[in-house]
Amino acid sequence: MKKTMLLSLMVLSGLLGFSQKKEKVISVIPEPVSMTRGSGYYKLPESISVNIPNLPELKSTTESILGKLAATGKKVSIRNDKSASIRFVLNKTAEKELGDEGYRLSVKSTGIQISANKPAGLFYGAQTLWQLLPQEIESKTKVSGVNWQAPVVEITDYPRFGWRGLMFDVSRHFFTKKDVEDFIDEMAQYKFNLLHMHLTDDEGWRIEIKSLPRLTSVGAWNVKREGYFGTFAPIPKDEPRNYGGFYTQDDIRELVKYAQDRFVNILPEVDVPGHSMAAIVAYPDLSCTPGSDQYQVISGEKFMDWPGPVALEDNTLCPANEKVYTFLNTVFTEIAGLFPFPYIHVGGDECAKNFWEKSDAIKQLMAKENLKTMEEVQSYFEKRVEKIVESKGKKLIGWDEILEGGLAPNALVMSWRGIQGGIAAAKMGHQVVMSPTTYVYLDYMQGDAISEPRIYSTLRLNKTYEFEPVPEGVESKYILGGQGNLWTEQVYNTRHLQYMIWPRSLAISESLWSPKEKKNWNWFATKVENNFGRMDLQNVKYARTMFDPIFEVSKAPNDSLLITLSTEIQGLDIHYSFDNSHPDNFYPVYKQPLLVPKDAVMLKVITYRGNQVMGKQIDMPIDELKRRLTKGNRED
Ligand code: ACM
Repeated sequence: MKKTMLLSLMVLSGLLGFSQKKEKVISVIPEPVSMTRGSGYYKLPESISVNIPNLPELKSTTESILGKLAATGKKVSIRNDKSASIRFVLNKTAEKELGDEGYRLSVKSTGIQISANKPAGLFYGAQTLWQLLPQEIESKTKVSGVNWQAPVVEITDYPRFGWRGLMFDVSRHFFTKKDVEDFIDEMAQYKFNLLHMHLTDDEGWRIEIKSLPRLTSVGAWNVKREGYFGTFAPIPKDEPRNYGGFYTQDDIRELVKYAQDRFVNILPEVDVPGHSMAAIVAYPDLSCTPGSDQYQVISGEKFMDWPGPVALEDNTLCPANEKVYTFLNTVFTEIAGLFPFPYIHVGGDECAKNFWEKSDAIKQLMAKENLKTMEEVQSYFEKRVEKIVESKGKKLIGWDEILEGGLAPNALVMSWRGIQGGIAAAKMGHQVVMSPTTYVYLDYMQGDAISEPRIYSTLRLNKTYEFEPVPEGVESKYILGGQGNLWTEQVYNTRHLQYMIWPRSLAISESLWSPKEKKNWNWFATKVENNFGRMDLQNVKYARTMFDPIFEVSKAPNDSLLITLSTEIQGLDIHYSFDNSHPDNFYPVYKQPLLVPKDAVMLKVITYRGNQVMGKQIDMPIDELKRRLTKGNRED
């Protein structure tokens, strides 16, 4: 009995020791440039005063500070007073090191001060401050019994890159203005400053263009199907088209303001000349192909062959048709008036050329302009589009296909098919944003395909964390930064949207903000885990796939299968069964590669830390592993 009590005491004091130790650890994402921990804490007083410059740019930041501090249940007031508990200070003389977005955050035992050259820096300082306070600060309602204190620390912080983006495809599935605002709130707290809105595609045109009303009265609507996008059966012509939606110009103005208030720019994308079915259905004479007046806005039915791409129905604007340039002039005039960001994204990706090849108008254009290939036809188109965009006082950005056939003179390239496009553009002296599939495609599965909603490929958190925007041999001055891309073919609702973005976007934020030498996977993984509680309190969903087992299969000498199990993060026990029962922490622990027992049909695996379940149970059919053996272990 005594022994048990002693043991309990030891366990208890161990736990207390652990929680005390844990309290001291400062876990901030993205990792700040420099952070020096002092001893002790600043305890928030019963009456918290906040001193923040009374500027229009900081109005929303001030409101959000008051909103956050409400969780403490303490009295909170704004007070223009040097002795306020939390002081936000704009530097009278700019500190060069901090630039426009950097800040210093000083927590002393007497109070907190955040200073910066510009309001954006104060906003980012506040985001760091929330991560220094107990996670309950994220609660929308008052939380009692919390030790409201921040560790004494001196932080100096500023971003590595100016372009820290996430792309949100609101075309494949429409997401409301409120959904976009929530997206902005979520990204801004991890110091992203750019929202790229993919506003048009084959499945929907999502922005009101007043001079071209059919773009949204017709082009914004398809029919609802669920399942595997791209494989749905042909849609009956008479089925009502009532699934979708669009943003009015007032909505867009409100979104731009909402984003600005959180120091986020919005980059609009109109994806042309491919991916244009919604526009063509609205205005069929924009295509080169007779019969396109019979087309419908795509709802996820098959209409392209991949790879290629080969279009089964012509979803491209016709570069040989002057009406197309008049159309784009109208579209970009209205778009330029709505978005203050200096760039307009014109797409350019995955443009099928098979209908152009058959078009007499394209043949005549090629003869007239001395164009030899279909890539040169696209390049001719991009150069004309660049002139239109520049005539609106904007700069053109496009996906890396715009390099093919000759890059428009001033274009910025967004490199998505790996990093090669970015390297080529930078070597030609063009500016580049890196968003390669290999590291930052947020639509890809983040765990084993057997247990994740199936899509083209897999990209785990640890691979995303390897994202390095500046390729070797490229001058860093050409790389503006990077972004993660969330395509939404398989994203039907906001809960799944969040699941796909988080935590991988935490990894992207650290690659874009933090100094390269500060990145450390094991520490980052711990911080991600610490951060999950904050996301729970915000009701933001995230993937826990970093805890899931990873399967690798090879052939054992006796021709049987040999299975290697691993996890992305350290310190997990992997338990398994071959007898079809559900393993728990009393089942065998994985120690070395497993030989599949004769006649076994299923390997069930789950991870634990001590007696706590960490990953989800994955049921892996042995036949699936045999299939993978023939496919070089590809999960997808
Ligand atoms: C892209 O992913 N098609 C740019």
